[in-house]
Amino acid sequence: MEEKKPTRQEALELLHRYNESDSLRKHAYAVEGVMRFIGRKRGGDEETWGIIGLIHDLDYEKFADQHCQKTGEILREHGWPEEYIRAAVSHGWGICSDVAPETELEKVLYAIDELTGLVATTALIRPSKSVMDVQVKSVKNKWKDKRFAAGVDRSIIEKGAQMLGVGLDELIDDTIKGMQEVAEAIGLKGNPS
Ligand SMILES: [Fe+2]
Ligand SMILES: [Fe+2]
Repeated sequence: MEEKKPTRQEALELLHRYNESDSLRKHAYAVEGVMRFIGRKRGGDEETWGIIGLIHDLDYEKFADQHCQKTGEILREHGWPEEYIRAAVSHGWGICSDVAPETELEKVLYAIDELTGLVATTALIRPSKSVMDVQVKSVKNKWKDKRFAAGVDRSIIEKGAQMLGVGLDELIDDTIKGMQEVAEAIGLKGNPS
């Protein structure tokens, strides 16, 4: 018997119930946008990729000290398929979970989660404050500057790119493009010129 797939609407309802913070919601939309972009590019089921992006940090606001574990519990209570739960939990591999990313979807999520933060911070220092103006080289320029977006662990992104077998430039480019598709929702559309 085929398990019922969660819908985007169900994912959004859970996200909004568990995440009141605007910045956490925007992070979820950013990760969703990038997952959709790369999922589509790789011939995956875009909806599934996007939904997992939306809920990957579901528990972070209310259960930061049980990050990943609680997401698993909440999704299980709501009857979500194990495939979705595994994927969400694997983004915290080595930090808050011991589930290593194995599928293509899981490796992409692991690789781009932190990267969305670096791209967002790079957008915010542009005069336009727009992700539409961010280029791969602007993000690369900030790679070694540890004080810039200090919370973003570059080594995780590098490990993720390695697991996927893609170069950093391509990963950054895809992340920028995915975030551009949801620029409005993540508050990085900037001012119209
Ligand atoms: Fe997380
Ligand atoms: Fe995240």
